[in-house]
Amino acid sequence: MTINDIDKELMPQHIAIIMDGNRRWAKERGVDPRLGHKEGAETLERIATYANEIGLKYMTVYAFSTENWKRTKEEVGALMKLLELYLDKFLNRESLRNIRIRLLGDVEGLNPSLRDRIYKIVEKSKDNTGLTLNIAFNYGGRDEIVKAVRKISERVKNDDISIDEIDEDMVSNNLYTQGEPDPDLLIRPGGEVRISNFLLWQLAYTEFLFVDKYWPDFSKKDLLEAIYTYEKRNRKFGGK
Ligand code: FPP
Repeated sequence: MTINDIDKELMPQHIAIIMDGNRRWAKERGVDPRLGHKEGAETLERIATYANEIGLKYMTVYAFSTENWKRTKEEVGALMKLLELYLDKFLNRESLRNIRIRLLGDVEGLNPSLRDRIYKIVEKSKDNTGLTLNIAFNYGGRDEIVKAVRKISERVKNDDISIDEIDEDMVSNNLYTQGEPDPDLLIRPGGEVRISNFLLWQLAYTEFLFVDKYWPDFSKKDLLEAIYTYEKRNRKFGGK
């Protein structure tokens, strides 16, 4: 499988990824789970760089869910640290290779130093024209919808809009992903076959692909294979 097997015309515009299996990867090697996350972060850097190279427009990755706070203090701390480390790495790099970074999730609920870095990187990269990398961090799909309902209700309450004006576009425009196309393809490595509160609204017509390997082992070739599989599927959108 090489890039030549991919039809540029049929390429998905937006790929979402649930980066699963970091801890099992670590367990199989008898190492600390935090090392699994570190390896997972390196995989993310590799895959995002490659996705940008091959001209993908949007990639959304699930890095920390609103449920992940229930993990041990050490593990939560390690995940926060990793995000911080990578944001610093991006901040110090000349051009981020033209990647635009956005954060999806409850950024206000993160510690101030992490929040600052997030605002800086989002601002610094906002005019980049390559891949848009959405990092879902402190993210929950239901939480995102609740927040959208609240924002819209506020406008109804203020007589800014009437209830009849509420439609699907309005809901989409009040989500973290506002202005972006919905994902065409969702990839979940790690062997689990569930959605785990990820992009509940946006995945309505998305093709799903479950890959039986852990995220740290996910390679550029796996990404190409996923795109190839997607291109071979006959997309229907509820029609014929
Ligand atoms: C799921 O695997 C993975 C996570 C909860 C964290 C994903 C985070 C990264 C890949 C690093 C993010 C890095 C940056 C720069 C944002 P798991 O821990 O549930 O593994 P398991 O299913 O084997 O238990």
